[in-house]
Amino acid sequence: MKEKIIFATGNEGKMREIRMILEDLGMEILSMKEVDIQADIEENGSTFEENAVIKAKAVMELTGTIVLADDSGLEIDYLNKEPGIYSARYMGEDTSYRIKNQNLIDRLDGVPEEKRTARFVCVIAAALPDGRVLVTRGAIEGIIGYEERGEGGFGYDPIFFLPEYGCSTAELSMEKKNELSHRGKALRAMKEELKKALGFKRGI
Ligand code: IMP
Repeated sequence: MKEKIIFATGNEGKMREIRMILEDLGMEILSMKEVDIQADIEENGSTFEENAVIKAKAVMELTGTIVLADDSGLEIDYLNKEPGIYSARYMGEDTSYRIKNQNLIDRLDGVPEEKRTARFVCVIAAALPDGRVLVTRGAIEGIIGYEERGEGGFGYDPIFFLPEYGCSTAELSMEKKNELSHRGKALRAMKEELKKALGFKRGI
């Protein structure tokens, strides 16, 4: 029987991306839904790292298996790294991204391109049943655009521009976004950390 890893998310889009990247670990990657766990964990940390560790540890304690969790968000330099860890909650969880994105564009009104720098950040934490905690971080640098562009992706993607590609992350194919994205980078780094932490014992 394959060893199990639970990824503490209910987001199916993320699960697809995670499974694709972690496939060669040879472990079964399950979502919270698949193991039928509904944990309402309060993300009360003050950094991406703290929040990811809080989530991973809480679910590991409930299940006794290896648990991965992520925390991600958009940091806009001109706005003192807002919305940052509050990216999902910015202007309220139920506010549409059309409104959130327009609000951020408005807050940067008149700000020249060189000061519109921003990045998506993703931190992945792994909580192991023996108490070890592994943490990796990935980021992608870009600038905040002047209007929404593109239909792909989600969240803040339509206003996040990659000058070297001449498009927003909402205009990239899923494969390309996985290759470049903060989450892809953090996941690939976590895969290497897991191989180091578990590989010897399991011959991965
Ligand atoms: P969480 O990590 O699932 O709590 O969500 C973080 C929030 O950051 C999301 O709800 C989005 O608002 C934003 N975010 C994180 N990654 C991305 C991305 O790849 N594209 C657009 N928005 C993102």
